[in-house]
Amino acid sequence: MAGESHNWVLMVSAQTPTNIAVIKYWGKSDETLILPVNDSISVTLDPGHLCTTTTVAVSPSFEQDRMWLNGKEISLSGGRYQNCLREIRSRASEIEDKKKGIRITKKDWGKLHLHIASYNNFPTAAGLASSAAGFACLVFALAKLMNVKEDESQLSAIARQGSGSACRSLFGGFVKWIMGKEENGSDSLAVQLADEKHWDDLVIIIAVVSSRQKETSSTSGMRESVDTSLLLQHRAKEVVPKRISQMEEAIKNQDFPSFAQLTCADSNQFHAVCLDTSPPIFYMNDTSHRIISIVEKWNRFEETPQVAYTFDAGPNAVLIARNRKTATLLLQRLLYYFPPNPDTDVDSYIIGDKSILKDAG
Ligand code: ADP
Ligand code: DP6
Ligand code: CO
Repeated sequence: MAGESHNWVLMVSAQTPTNIAVIKYWGKSDETLILPVNDSISVTLDPGHLCTTTTVAVSPSFEQDRMWLNGKEISLSGGRYQNCLREIRSRASEIEDKKKGIRITKKDWGKLHLHIASYNNFPTAAGLASSAAGFACLVFALAKLMNVKEDESQLSAIARQGSGSACRSLFGGFVKWIMGKEENGSDSLAVQLADEKHWDDLVIIIAVVSSRQKETSSTSGMRESVDTSLLLQHRAKEVVPKRISQMEEAIKNQDFPSFAQLTCADSNQFHAVCLDTSPPIFYMNDTSHRIISIVEKWNRFEETPQVAYTFDAGPNAVLIARNRKTATLLLQRLLYYFPPNPDTDVDSYIIGDKSILKDAG
C-alpha cells in the first residue's frame, strides 16, 4: 500500500442511465442470486434525464465501508450491497499511481474500506427503475476504481446481484437479460441487442404521475406474485419466450406496429399478474389508466400505432413515440389533458432518448 502516508484518497465517478423494460422481468427463481423466471428486454434511456451519479473513494484512513444515497447515509449490511462489493473485490487488480506514490495490490483491496456517494437525478423507489441505474452505476464505478478487467456482460452479472433490472443498464440501446441455465447464475447476464444509434427515430416521454415512494417494492411485489399468481407461471413459461423472439425481430426490423403491440401487451400482462397476486398489488392509478385509454384510442384511430406505453412497478407512464413528429403531437395531447402541476394528475414530463453509457471520468 502507499508507503508511509495514510492521507491519500483515490476517487472515481461514473454516471449510468436507467432502463425501461419493454418485455418485463417479474419473478425470481433464486432470491439470493437474483435469477429471473424469464428473459427480459429493455431500452436504456438518455443519461441527461434519468441517471445515477456515483463516486467511490478508497483511503487507508477509512475505518469501514459506508454509503450515502441522495445525501443520506444508508446501511450497507443488506445482502445485495455485500454481494456486489464481494464480487468486485474478488476481481480487483493491482493499481499504481506513481505521481501520488500510491500502489494498491490485489491483497490490499481486500483490506481497504470504501466510501460511496450516490445521487439519483430522478425519484428514488417510485417505479422509474432507480435500483437499475443505482446498482449498475455502483458496480461500474467500483470496477473502474479497482481496475477490474471484466467486460460489460460479466459486470452485468454482478450488477444483477444488486437488483435484477440493473444488469440491463450496463449497456446503451436495446438490451436483453438472458435468464441463463446455470444454478450458480454465471450465465444470467445482459447482452446488447442493438446500440443506441439503432432506431434513433424513437422518442421517449415520461409522465411523472407520482414521485412518491411506492408502497410495495419491486422485490417484495414479485415475491408475492411468485408465491400466489398462477398467471405468472403461465406468463413465464408460455407467453414471454414467444414475445422475446418477436420483440427481437421487431427491434431488428424497426417494426413499430409490432414493437408497440408487444410493449403495451406486456405491460398490461405484468399489471394483470400484479392484480392476480394475493393480496392484489396496484401499481397503476386512475391517471395511468386514462393515459392508456388516450393512447389506445389514438392508435386505433390511425392506420398503424403511433405510440407505445409501458408502466413499471409504479403509476408513471413511459410513452414511446414512433418519431419526432408523433412525439410533438403526443406532448401536445398530454399537456392538454394533463397540464403538469404538482397538485394535479401529472407532476412533470421528462423527454428522453435512447442512450449510451456515460463515464464521468
Ligand atoms: P425502483 O422502481 O425505483 O427501481 P425498487 O423498489 O426496485 O424501486 O428499488 C429501490 C431501491 O433501490 C432503493 O430503496 C435503494 O435500496 C436502491 N437504490 C436506488 N437508487 C440507488 C442508488 N443510486 N445506489 C444504490 N442503490 C440504490
Ligand atoms: C417492473 O429489478 O427493481 O421494473 O431484482 O428485486 O431489485 P429486484 O427488482 P427490480 O424489478 C424490476 C421490475 C420491473 C420490470 C423490469 O425492469 O424488467
Ligand atoms: Co427497481
